[in-house]
Amino acid sequence: MASIKKFRILKFKSKPILTAKGISKTINKRLILRKIDFEINKGEIFGLLGPNGAGKSVTFNVLLGIMKADFGNVFVEGKKITNYAIHERAKKFKIGYIPQNDSVFKGLSCEDNLRAIAEITIKDKVKQESVIQELLSEFNLSHLRNVIANNLSGGEKKKLVIARSLVNNPRILLMDEPYGAVDPINIDMIKKIIINLQKKGVSVLITDHSAQNVLSIVDRCSIISGGEIIVGGKPEEIIRNNKARQLYFGENFNI
Ligand SMILES: Nc1ncnc2c1ncn2[C@@H]1O[C@H](COP(=O)(O)OP(=O)(O)OP(=O)(O)O)[C@@H](O)[C@H]1O
Ligand SMILES: [Mg+2]
Repeated sequence: MASIKKFRILKFKSKPILTAKGISKTINKRLILRKIDFEINKGEIFGLLGPNGAGKSVTFNVLLGIMKADFGNVFVEGKKITNYAIHERAKKFKIGYIPQNDSVFKGLSCEDNLRAIAEITIKDKVKQESVIQELLSEFNLSHLRNVIANNLSGGEKKKLVIARSLVNNPRILLMDEPYGAVDPINIDMIKKIIINLQKKGVSVLITDHSAQNVLSIVDRCSIISGGEIIVGGKPEEIIRNNKARQLYFGENFNI
C-alpha cells in the first residue's frame, strides 16, 4: 500500500459531526441518489468512492446546499441543516469545500485568491497577512504569489483552491477530487496536509479517482454506485467486498 498514514482511528467518542440521512435526489426524472446514509465523526477522514456518474459530486452538492434533496436530511452535530442556505452552512458550521472543477478566481493573483477570502473571514489585518503567507509557503506557492491564477498549471490551481479552502479554518472539509491534475510529490504533500488537519480535529470527506490515495488516508470509506451506497467500512474490508470489486475496483485492484 502506498501508505502514508500510520494510524487509523477505530473509535470516535463524540456524536457524528456530519450526517447524511436518507438522501434521495431525482434530476430530470432520473433517480440520481437513492437513500444515501453515512455519518462522519469529529476528526475522521471519510472516503466516498465510486465510478463516474455514481452520484458523488451530487452528494457533495446536497451536503453543501448547492442542490436540494427531494428526501432526506443533512445534520451537523445532530442539528438539522437541510434548510440552511449555502453561505449559512459555510459560515455557521465552518464547512469548507474543494469543488471537482477549477474554481480559482481567474483574474486575481495567487495571493489575492487567498486575500479575497481572508478579508471576509479574518478581522485582524496582520493575522490576514500571516495566514496568507503561511498557506502560500505550506503549499509551495510563494514563488507564484503574483501570477494571475488563470495562468497557473492544473496542479498549481488545485493546490491554490485547497489552500484557499483553509483560510477560514474549516471544521468540516469536503474535498471533491483534490488530487486531480496533481503530480505524485504534490499528492503526498496534500495527503500530509489532510492528515495534519485531522490531527487538529478537522473532519474530512474526500472523493477521488486515485482510489489508492484515498484509501491510504481514510479511516472509513463508502462505495457508491448507481446512486446507492453498496458497502461501507474500513479500507481493507471494502476492497474485499465482491460487489465493490465487481462495480468499482475491478478484479486486480489492491492496496
Ligand atoms: N445538474 C444536473 N443536471 C442533469 N444531470 C445531472 C446534473 N448533475 C449531475 N447529473 C447527473 O447525475 C449523475 C451523477 O453525477 P455526479 O456528478 O454526482 O457523478 P460523480 O459520481 O461525481 O462522477 P465523477 O466521478 O465522474 O465526477 C450523472 O449521471 C450526471 O450526469
Ligand atoms: Mg464528481
